[in-house]
Amino acid sequence: MVNDVLQIRGVSKRYQAGNKNIEAVRDVNLTVGATESVGLVGESGCGKSTLARLVARLDSLDRGQVILCGEDISQIKGAALRRAYANLKMIFQDPRSSFDPRLTLGASILEALRTAGVQRSKRKAQAEKLLSEVGLNATFLTAKPRDVSGGECQRAAIARAIAAKPKLLICDEATSALDVSVQAQIMELLCKLRREHDMSFLFISHDLALVSGFCDRTYVMKDGILVESGATGQVLNHPQHDYTKTLIRSIV
Ligand SMILES: Nc1ncnc2c1ncn2[C@@H]1O[C@H](COP(=O)(O)OP(=O)(O)OP(=O)(O)O)[C@@H](O)[C@H]1O
Ligand SMILES: [Mg+2]
Repeated sequence: MVNDVLQIRGVSKRYQAGNKNIEAVRDVNLTVGATESVGLVGESGCGKSTLARLVARLDSLDRGQVILCGEDISQIKGAALRRAYANLKMIFQDPRSSFDPRLTLGASILEALRTAGVQRSKRKAQAEKLLSEVGLNATFLTAKPRDVSGGECQRAAIARAIAAKPKLLICDEATSALDVSVQAQIMELLCKLRREHDMSFLFISHDLALVSGFCDRTYVMKDGILVESGATGQVLNHPQHDYTKTLIRSIV
């Protein structure tokens, strides 16, 4: 659709591991509409993170196109890529490893605001506002990643991610490393952001219950290929593909 935030068209990626070729992602087509939340599920090693990394240009794709907010970002570089990044942010399973351990959380968030073009004089107040949006008080500005809990660190990672008001937030197993109760709090936070911001999600998770609660549509991946997609309720409650049926049985 014209107002899709993300269109992945015919994207493929192959890795060479020794003398073995791994086709991590094969001819994938996927879309995320404006304010839509889209799930991506599949067993470990099926290519979910590879696809996310290709979209975020953390790795180069072999074939295909990634269209973000109408712009083909598959080949752009330098300043054009940095500009495009304002529309896309990613949060990962281990929030600590996505922060520089030497910097305070505040310094990392201020840097994100600087990159987003926020005036220096306004950055501190905005950083405090971002922290409060994710349920942290201003004392976290001076904490280092190792000083805070995993859940708090993920909240700070989310604050940093939304500093530039991205159109698309890619969450790659963003709650998998957290205790169940903390996981629920982070999901609540993501739901709140969804309601209050004009944001779309590509939500990668092993946890079909979370996907079921959060995602409008869901894609199922197997060996680098998308085998099924549709409304989340349809895919998870009435799967058509044998693989999806097995996946659901293995988890329930
Ligand atoms: N840089 C790389 N070099 C070689 N092989 C890679 C590389 N990155 C990923 N792979 C391989 O590509 C395949 C897909 O990996 P990927 O990490 O995308 O899976 P995943 O679906 O995210 O798994 P998980 O659910 O465990 O996170 C795997 O076989 C993996 O070993
Ligand atoms: Mg992964």
